[in-house]
Amino acid sequence: MILPVLQYPDPRLTRKSAPVEEITPRIRELAADMAETMYARDGIGLAAPQVGETLRLVVLDLSGPDRREDLRVLVNPEFTLSGVELESDEGCLSVPDYSAKVVRREFAAVRAVDLEGRPVVFDASGHLSVCVQHECDHLEGILFIDRLSRLKREMLDKRLKKKITDHAR
Ligand code: NI
Repeated sequence: MILPVLQYPDPRLTRKSAPVEEITPRIRELAADMAETMYARDGIGLAAPQVGETLRLVVLDLSGPDRREDLRVLVNPEFTLSGVELESDEGCLSVPDYSAKVVRREFAAVRAVDLEGRPVVFDASGHLSVCVQHECDHLEGILFIDRLSRLKREMLDKRLKKKITDHAR
């Protein structure tokens, strides 16, 4: 089932998510719905808080909605960062029609479990590393636009305010 994706400035996107205590059928269904939603919206990653569930659950597929070859479901992901800082061009299904450069770290050593409760351990670099950092930020209630300079952020907020006002007319 395709789920509605919450959009900034929805306050639910700023909440810290709780760990998944047990992998129940409901959690499996949520993960499947999140993957379906991600593909339908042309995304490469989606975190549970974006669909209104404050749970530490993330889906990723860098092969994209056309290929769907590399789906990763991360339950309770944790990571250790290393390497240099680099700028990545990011967008987010919760911040439509906007992209900006964000500073991320080069590598992420990721630990999580899958929907079978088996450990998932991998070293991410490049796009995958950025994607893990972006999605895990959602679990802390952080959006990529929270990592912009104050000036850029003010410009975005102004633009959004105008859009909302125009819409209300
Ligand atoms: Ni996002």
